[in-house]
Amino acid sequence: MQRFIIKGGRRLRGELPLQGSKNSALPIMAATLLCGGECVLTGCPGLTDIYSAARILNYTGCRCTFSENTAAVDSRDIRETSIPEQLMREMRSSIIFMGALLGRTGECIVSIPGGCELGPRPIDMHLAAMRKMGIDIKESGGRIVCRAAAGKAHGARLSLAFPSVGATENIILCAVSAEGETVVNNAAREPEICDLCEFLRQCGADISGDGESRIIINGRNDLHGCEHRIMPDRIAGATYLSMTAATRGEMILSNACISEMEPFLSVLEQTGCSIYTGENRIYLRSGARLKAVSDRIRTMPHPGFPTDAQAVLMAALATADGTSVFEENIFDCRYRHTDALVKMGADIQVLGKVAIVRGVPLLHGASVEATDLRGGAAMVAAALAAEGTTEISRIDHIDRGYEKIEEAVGRLGGEMLRSG
Ligand code: EPU
Repeated sequence: MQRFIIKGGRRLRGELPLQGSKNSALPIMAATLLCGGECVLTGCPGLTDIYSAARILNYTGCRCTFSENTAAVDSRDIRETSIPEQLMREMRSSIIFMGALLGRTGECIVSIPGGCELGPRPIDMHLAAMRKMGIDIKESGGRIVCRAAAGKAHGARLSLAFPSVGATENIILCAVSAEGETVVNNAAREPEICDLCEFLRQCGADISGDGESRIIINGRNDLHGCEHRIMPDRIAGATYLSMTAATRGEMILSNACISEMEPFLSVLEQTGCSIYTGENRIYLRSGARLKAVSDRIRTMPHPGFPTDAQAVLMAALATADGTSVFEENIFDCRYRHTDALVKMGADIQVLGKVAIVRGVPLLHGASVEATDLRGGAAMVAAALAAEGTTEISRIDHIDRGYEKIEEAVGRLGGEMLRSG
């Protein structure tokens, strides 16, 4: 099992180009199934989750190759619509292949997906929406057997109880080739949804309203392949900026998506960091001290503060002057990183969905285990700021979302090695 060994105490400093977005690339890879042609995705991050998506595509009969941040997918021939449980378990996004396969073939067999353990992650909204679109769904022995009653899904008027990112994506994927019009009310507004819709429009899909809470899709059956550049990863961006703030450093994040990162940047700025933006670059300079954030940091669907940035910002605020309060509203169990931060000397009290972070002067190195992707990244941020050496195990969690993280940190002058 590999580990990261991090020697803390160095201020991060330098320029880093932002990687492509994992959470945008995954549904877009699933969407290539709908085109029945060749797609080229540039700016695709080299991550274990992306390789899992490529394995699913190849299993269905597509030809997916990956080289130098470009994924090429030829989806002319599909021969398999049943995804094995083992592939489904590799990541949460495997469930997105349900909508894409239904859109392309009118049938699929999937199972409950894997992914980070952040509390219960049901797929009831996905299934309810598919049923309304004319899909007959039977669950037996852990397998979810889906078939369009009329051979093809049909449009529907849908209202989501919560703006779920995954459910919105699955509905879009099923609806672009369905018969008639689909209206999704209370749709997720995350930038990655817009990137997916932009990709699909380039393939000939008729979609409007993405980025707002009502999305309208008119089904078509003449989609084709295209070339698309994956948007930058706003959460990886938030992570590297948080690491730099934690070490009281200074950095330029290039290839950044500034407006998409605004909900995060506006909170980070309250710590007293200077932030300047322009021409896809974010410049951050942290003073010698960080201030606690006085307003409660509430995670919310976009354009609220992103849940995926909660842990990494918490690592930076662990050594701020004063007390910051987080409220996690998206996932039931997304404070699993706090035990490791406390082991490193942080003062964090978790009370249900609230975490109270009282800033301490300094963290110290420790031996810790990554609990999930973003929680693991928070441990890296804390380790870079801490006195002494930290060893992080279960780094497979971190590799799911950060491309060569030790090289990125090294580029900023941090001391981080992969061992084993
Ligand atoms: N939910 C339900 N029923 C459903 C679907 C969702 O109750 O049918 C609940 C979930 O249990 C959760 C909430 O709704 O409490 C939000 O879930 P959502 O469906 O929006 O999240 P997701 O699609 O599973 C994506 C990202 C997550 C990110 C969330 C929220 C991908 C691959 N994953 O997950 O990213 O935290 O949206 O923004 O896009 C990460 O990258 O580390 C990560 C976990």
